[in-house]
Amino acid sequence: MPLTTSTQMFKKAYKGGYAVGAFNVNNMETIQGIVEAGEECKSPLILQVSKGAREYANMTYLKKLVEAAVLTTTVPICLHLDHGDTFELCKACVDDGFTSVMIDASKLPFEENIKLSKRVADYAHERGVVVEAELGKLAGIEEHVSNKYGSFTDPSEVEEFVTKTGVDSLAIAIGTSHGAYKFKGEAQLRFDILEEIEKRIPGFPIVLHGSSSVPKEFVDMINNYGGNVAGAQGVPESMLRKAASMSVCKINIDTDIRLAMTAEIRKHFSEHPEHFDPRQYLKPAREAVKQMVKHKIINVLGSDDKA
Ligand code: G3H
Ligand code: 13P
Ligand code: ZN
Repeated sequence: MPLTTSTQMFKKAYKGGYAVGAFNVNNMETIQGIVEAGEECKSPLILQVSKGAREYANMTYLKKLVEAAVLTTTVPICLHLDHGDTFELCKACVDDGFTSVMIDASKLPFEENIKLSKRVADYAHERGVVVEAELGKLAGIEEHVSNKYGSFTDPSEVEEFVTKTGVDSLAIAIGTSHGAYKFKGEAQLRFDILEEIEKRIPGFPIVLHGSSSVPKEFVDMINNYGGNVAGAQGVPESMLRKAASMSVCKINIDTDIRLAMTAEIRKHFSEHPEHFDPRQYLKPAREAVKQMVKHKIINVLGSDDKA
């Protein structure tokens, strides 16, 4: 099956009360682990590439790896630009064959965010590509508090935003954040804001960034095998499950992939100090990514058997 957009994926996910996983990819082993998991679970997949991933791997390599993934699997795959920050970057990805792009103009004032997001949506839509935009700022980024929602998404703005921009999905801020250190105390998400947003734009697909759950198993493994990620904490799986059963159709996961690979590689080096063939440690690392993604698909996202 050729690369697909996320349009059908989100329609089915919204109706079915589940979410599609959007997994960040940087290299071959990660792509293989995710795609093997998707294939075994018969789950649709979004593979997303950040600006940093483009720079690290070289877009030609990543594109060819994703093309190889598409050739070797039966499940629908959407290739998405994660956090595009300029029109030019989004345009380059549209021109390059991506089926979805994110324009993240959430740092800009409301009217400027609308203007840039609309410009990207107009360009992408003419070429059959779908667009995600963001309103509100993920925790830990925004310092000043502009209204009663602070840096969270203000529900009173979403209808105007999606109408004026014409975007296809909306990333919102309800308390998640990027990376391995998401909460200092107890994990909390503003489901009240999500509910209010749903009332304003019923049926519209919502995206949750910063949605790794930072499994204790990987954190302990890293710490026990010479690393130090003390205090790492993610979004509890039960909260992600709840969000997926609501209007959240896309759940972004990067940190958990990094943790799974690193935990396995640290363990491998500790147990096999004599190994130096990268295949010896990348093979179990790839398997760890696969098992982690299978667990997400079945127990958190609920996207198994939805391909
Ligand atoms: O949201 C950010 C993603 O985790 C991508 O991270 O920019 O380090 O590739 P990156
Ligand atoms: P995590 O850091 O929680 O994995 O979030 C990834 C993300 O939002 C990518 O856009
Ligand atoms: Zn993100």
